[in-house]
Amino acid sequence: MTTPLQGTRREATAAPRGDVLAIRGGRALRGRVKVTGAKNLATKAMVASLLGETVSVLRDVPELSDVGVVRSLLEVHGVHVSEGDEPGSLRLDPSDVESAHMEEIDAHAGASRIPILFCGPLLHRLGQAFIPDLGGCRIGDRPIDFHLDALRKFGAVVEKLPSGIRLSAPEGLHGAEITLPYPSVGATEQVLLTAVRADGVTELHNAAIEPEIMDLIAVLQKMGAIISYEPNRVIFIEGVPHLRGYDHRSIFDRNEAASWASAALATDGEIFVEGARQQEMLTFLNVYRKAGGWFDIHEDGILFRRGGPLKPVVVETDVHPGFMTDWQQPLTVALTQAEGESIVHETVYENRMGFTDALVKMGADIVVHPHGLDGGYRRVARRELEQAAVINGPTPLHGADIVVPDLRGGYSHVIAALTASGESIVSGVEILSRGYEKFLDKLEALGADFDVIG
Ligand code: EPZ
Repeated sequence: MTTPLQGTRREATAAPRGDVLAIRGGRALRGRVKVTGAKNLATKAMVASLLGETVSVLRDVPELSDVGVVRSLLEVHGVHVSEGDEPGSLRLDPSDVESAHMEEIDAHAGASRIPILFCGPLLHRLGQAFIPDLGGCRIGDRPIDFHLDALRKFGAVVEKLPSGIRLSAPEGLHGAEITLPYPSVGATEQVLLTAVRADGVTELHNAAIEPEIMDLIAVLQKMGAIISYEPNRVIFIEGVPHLRGYDHRSIFDRNEAASWASAALATDGEIFVEGARQQEMLTFLNVYRKAGGWFDIHEDGILFRRGGPLKPVVVETDVHPGFMTDWQQPLTVALTQAEGESIVHETVYENRMGFTDALVKMGADIVVHPHGLDGGYRRVARRELEQAAVINGPTPLHGADIVVPDLRGGYSHVIAALTASGESIVSGVEILSRGYEKFLDKLEALGADFDVIG
């Protein structure tokens, strides 16, 4: 930890890795946190800099390990990455882009899914690319079939190797008509990053339209790309031969904002989330209100707190503008304290309810139905993916020894420990550095009572 010891955080004598916390719960979190730029935009905008022929500047870049992975992968390909002209900004100079050695790429791939998005830009710059096997949270098998099918339609030749995939584009890349089987965020980004410099027009149907996608489109347009967003998830891209660098300030991190809001709800606290904006959080705010939360929208952020007793809700995760799959884990902790039966229906990933095991160990009453809930109405075609957690409350939570399963599940474990009575030992907290910048400093600033013990 870099910050000097303050308040309630004491650190073990040995140099702690910040991976194991002893958390004493039962205290409301109160105070102010500033959300960073969005992890799931900044990492993609960094990849987009490969497509430009001049320097790019990205602002409000979060200090996260996922950003570090992308920075290393850009550097092994010859991009000069340095601090920009303001705190939290990066200067990306792609003028010396060159091929990298497979083992170097492998070494830097880390536990991230972003490397798959290097395909299009590297094929445009170098005519070839090697992408190592992907990491990322274990919340499903995370296939990349939509990505590879799209790249083949652009004219790429995809060769599967034991350690990853090698791609080439013997005749260059040309525009294509692509319909995604599902509005996949990553696959939409794959198409955007490939189509902008392909020869001809690309028509993308059933595209993801998350605010982070629209922000990536803004980045590409600043570079000189010609992209139009039509109704009904259709995006047209007219390929151009040259793109320049961009200067862009990342959209705020909606997942971090929703996570701190859920922490205020669960601990009956009050947290001002500086940088959060209402427009990109509409669906979250509706569910928050129905669960008994209240919020005040300010020019520079949103104040989150309870508005009265917690209430049970039925929520189904969905693609934007629905309730984001990344929001359900932190919210579920508060639902364990609501009077009555809540249902959280996960329809995006097939294995994103594992975090509830720890909540049950702490006293929550949660039953996970591995194949969703029976019933006539079936909104999504991906029936086999669905899981539904039925939560009955209120159930007092008590401290326990728990291990963080993934990024957003891990955040919910920390909130649960803060909500529970007594002490919890939470291991594997390191993974939170992938998605929450200065996480322990922010916890401390909000009055959490914890020790870093490993
Ligand atoms: C992005 O993942 C985010 N990650 C995820 O956030 C987020 O949960 C997800 O979008 C949905 O919003 C990043 O942006 C780095 P998808 P991505 O492609 O692009 C299936 C976090 O906590 N699918 O929209 O991988 C897939 O298995 C992370 O920050 C295929 O079947 O999500 C999933 O069931 C977690 N084939 C569904 O589509 C494919 O080729 C949605 O995935 C691609 C995806």
